[in-house]
Amino acid sequence: MPLLRPDTTSAMNKPTVLITRSFFPGILQKLSEKCSLLVWEDESPPPYDWIKQHIPEADALICMLTDKIDAELISLGATNRLKVISQIAVGVDNIAVSAATTHKIPVGHTPGVLTETTADFAWSLMMAAARRVVESAVEVSHNIWRPWGPEVLCGADVYGKTLGLIGFGRIGKAMARRAAGFEMQVLYNEPRFKPENAAITNARYVCLEELLHESDFVSLHAYLSESSRGMIGKAQLGLMKPSAILINTGRGAMIDHDALFDAIKRNTIAAAALDVFDPEPIPQNHPLLGLPNVIITPHIASASTATRHQMAVMTIDNILAGLEGRPIPYCANPEILK
Ligand code: DGY
Repeated sequence: MPLLRPDTTSAMNKPTVLITRSFFPGILQKLSEKCSLLVWEDESPPPYDWIKQHIPEADALICMLTDKIDAELISLGATNRLKVISQIAVGVDNIAVSAATTHKIPVGHTPGVLTETTADFAWSLMMAAARRVVESAVEVSHNIWRPWGPEVLCGADVYGKTLGLIGFGRIGKAMARRAAGFEMQVLYNEPRFKPENAAITNARYVCLEELLHESDFVSLHAYLSESSRGMIGKAQLGLMKPSAILINTGRGAMIDHDALFDAIKRNTIAAAALDVFDPEPIPQNHPLLGLPNVIITPHIASASTATRHQMAVMTIDNILAGLEGRPIPYCANPEILK
């Protein structure tokens, strides 16, 4: 049963931080020297109503990407004591940021620190899907060791192939750097061409259609927005090569998963590796779970201990700055500082 952990020692005069998941005790311990903490202690996210019940007492909110922080919650907090929100993630699509901006509440996030860790994971998903690592390991763990044979568990080469990156921000560029070592051609697409990216000589800007048509691997690194939501559907999957592999470490809602299931079943594309889904967790009976050529992991691309620790530290820096009325160092709505 989840527990509240209010700081009972000298809570008076200390600002209250509402925290929707427990993490790194040492970091929370340090925060508790300055703040009174109200922590949801369970591994699963708190119900919306728990946040709603406690947000009126909160001076600050630390949330996770699994929490829906909508305009109603923000307004409820703002009309009481809420001064700052910070999330342990770079993506803040679960937060009504514009509502926070209206109320002049800074929204903190953790850009930059997770770039290489996330790209490492996207790269490992690509390699694993291409070379059927998970499928092979699952067979062996079920005591199936297929005798060596010329065609047994053959996959696709990665070296020298074409990588299509949808989204060319920090993580997309980190993928392009890795691709250079594999002597891959890199194509990328983002909502508009940015002249400064022309300096990245191993990557070429193309329209989405060309990227889908030409790439052996398509990897999603865009932010979730109204324009990227559902951007990979039946029509886009239909443009991909039958040998192509789709990788997603961005946000699940960018892909129409029913269309993806259909494409894989009909061999329109060869395989997929997904670290994110919509909804999360993936429903237990989802048909994609039964396919050997689909790898699904539980949103762990940024999950190295060092990176997650650093993300937590950045979050605390944001919270303390916001509580002290200073500009927060990692701000997702910097327009409030103007
Ligand atoms: C983020 O930071 O948005 C990532 O999805 C967390 O892993």
